[in-house]
Amino acid sequence: MQSFETLSKQFAEKFDTRHFPEQPASLYEPNEYFLKLGGKRIRPVLCLMGNEMFDEIMPDAWHAATAIELFHNFTLIHDDIMDKAPLRRGKQTVHTKYNDSTALLAGDVMLVKAYEFLNKISTVQLHKVLLLFNKTAIEVCEGQQLDMDYELQDNVSMTDYLRMIELKTSVALAASLKIGALLGGGGERNQNLLYEFGRKLGIAFQVQDDYLDAFGDNAKTGKQVGGDILSNKKTFLLIHAMESGSHQKELKTLIKTNPSNKVEKVLNVYKDCKADEWALQLKNKYFDEALNHLEDIAVLSKRKEPLRELALFLVQRDF
Ligand code: IPE
Ligand code: IPE
Ligand code: MG
Ligand code: MG
Ligand code: MG
Repeated sequence: MQSFETLSKQFAEKFDTRHFPEQPASLYEPNEYFLKLGGKRIRPVLCLMGNEMFDEIMPDAWHAATAIELFHNFTLIHDDIMDKAPLRRGKQTVHTKYNDSTALLAGDVMLVKAYEFLNKISTVQLHKVLLLFNKTAIEVCEGQQLDMDYELQDNVSMTDYLRMIELKTSVALAASLKIGALLGGGGERNQNLLYEFGRKLGIAFQVQDDYLDAFGDNAKTGKQVGGDILSNKKTFLLIHAMESGSHQKELKTLIKTNPSNKVEKVLNVYKDCKADEWALQLKNKYFDEALNHLEDIAVLSKRKEPLRELALFLVQRDF
């Protein structure tokens, strides 16, 4: 059983080659630029770990992992257009460096490239892999649309938020694990437990992402600080601060008037509401539930160790 460190290094060795043709450079250069920025490679490693839980990692799992990482990068390029984000992985986003239209097409072709890798899967499991991959891709679109709808809506509940982040983020982590397990010959019960582990972990992962958007060090996250605040994202931070009552009026005014010191003001409100404690509580709830599903999987405990460690890293990370 290999650690996150080992597997992400191995994955990078295979993945970090040129994926696109030279011409037209105006289309493919942006993709190569973006892929070179790297990233944590969490989803492909989840796929590989889901595979290794049941046997040695097989070539099909590498194809699936590659498809999953390409799909993820496609969602990020489009997400940065939607979120008007200037920075990603410490560098200019594709739509900022080039333009929106190029970023749209670069993302589109990245998605098609992902399917090319899925098509390399040689077992009869391909049909099941495709079903899950497509279901997940549709859910990500649904989640991303809700995320934008909520920017304009001021009555978003914690339940709405949790469902939205499940769709836009956590199902992709869950599906990565399950696809690995499916290819590795894991039984259906084990596959589904892995999916549930990933789903709960993914919720905790997005909670941490939302926390870091407000309180992270941008030298580490590589993203603009307070991007979510600027675009009125309905994160657990904002929902909680609104629900805690005493700051509701101030927050509503800040959202409506958009002053130049909005980020600073909203951050002060969050701090006042003890956002730290809230984030910890929420993350722990989903982290604990995730681990319970992992424990229920019927394989030797030591085969689950890399996933336990990765789960802890994902909820405690500062980048
Ligand atoms: C960013 O995902 C998008 C979210 C779902 C929060 P990651 O934090 O995994 O991004 P990279 O690939 O490591 O840059
Ligand atoms: C992105 O969520 C989710 C997907 C890309 C599907 P965010 O918008 O919070 O991700 P970051 O913070 O830009 O990485
Ligand atoms: Mg974003
Ligand atoms: Mg977004
Ligand atoms: Mg974010």
